[in-house]
Amino acid sequence: MLRTRVTDLLGIQYPITQGGLAHLAFAELAAAVSNAGGLGQITATTLPSAEALRAQIAQVRSLTDKPFAINFQIGRRDLSELVLTAAELEVPTMSFTAGDPRPYFRLIEGLPIKKLCLVATTRQARNAEDLGADVVIAVGFEGGGHIGRDDLASLVLVPRVVESVGIPVLASGGFADGRGLVAALALGAEGIEMGTRFIATQECIAHPNYKQALVDADEADTMVVERSIGRPARVLRTPLAEAILQIEQQGGSIEELLPLISRDMNLLAAYEGDMAGGFVWAGQVVGLMHDVPTVRELMERIVAEAQTIGQRLCPLLQTIEE
Ligand SMILES: Cc1cc2nc3c(=O)[nH]c(=O)nc-3n(C[C@H](O)[C@H](O)[C@H](O)COP(=O)(O)O)c2cc1C
Repeated sequence: MLRTRVTDLLGIQYPITQGGLAHLAFAELAAAVSNAGGLGQITATTLPSAEALRAQIAQVRSLTDKPFAINFQIGRRDLSELVLTAAELEVPTMSFTAGDPRPYFRLIEGLPIKKLCLVATTRQARNAEDLGADVVIAVGFEGGGHIGRDDLASLVLVPRVVESVGIPVLASGGFADGRGLVAALALGAEGIEMGTRFIATQECIAHPNYKQALVDADEADTMVVERSIGRPARVLRTPLAEAILQIEQQGGSIEELLPLISRDMNLLAAYEGDMAGGFVWAGQVVGLMHDVPTVRELMERIVAEAQTIGQRLCPLLQTIEE
């Protein structure tokens, strides 16, 4: 047992959660993570409708009786209908990222729904706590997808967030294995969230070329794009990602960028496997990923590795005390 306030609060066995993954986190992946003892999530924002979310929730419930969560990325469109649908279906947990969660918190006020908020600064963490979040997820600069604007790496961000709030903290950005889990606990977090690592699993619907590209990449093979438009995001280094960055560095306009950073260019690589023509989100943690296991294999490996490290460290630290 790896028991923390997060496992108790969310009703899960291991303090490992799967991050929201635009276009990639559906019922099968969420159920696999939850069945393996973690918290799986369905990403609502990239579903086409409330009906599609309803179907996803029905499907996850047919695949697991364990707790799961629904993820909402704020900012692109009004998510009220999706949030109300998830609430009506009594989902146990919701997570919110990339914007002001207040309107959505109001919609679910008084309901027994645990609220997780992704943050990239201590200020955002304190705000989330003040608004009533149950857990904050501190996402460092290493992370895949959209990251904070202050370039704060997890090693500093996580303990700073831990000392800034009273609610439990999950560490995110750069976590993929048992070493990361132990490190996160050492930093005061009560578990980890992983995004990129879960893409390279058997249960994720990402194209095999995407998974293989993650496995082949090393830690220097990601880059940050979209900084020029105020929403930095980490992607795998692909020819298109290089072209996007070059346009940004040359002061290109948003009109020039939009067709290149579009959903279609993302899905060209993520679903169709055209890694030269499209782009994909990915974190520096690709350097630590060497295979495409099942979710259960991955989770069991992480827990076993963390326990082995714990056994090695405990006597070492006791020696220091003496
Ligand atoms: C492909 C991809 C898509 C993502 N989409 C979302 C999303 O829709 N909502 C969200 O809250 N976070 C999203 N994220 C961020 C992850 O949930 C998580 O915070 C991040 O991946 C953690 O860093 P890691 O990649 O080092 O594990 C995405 C990340 C990736 C790699």
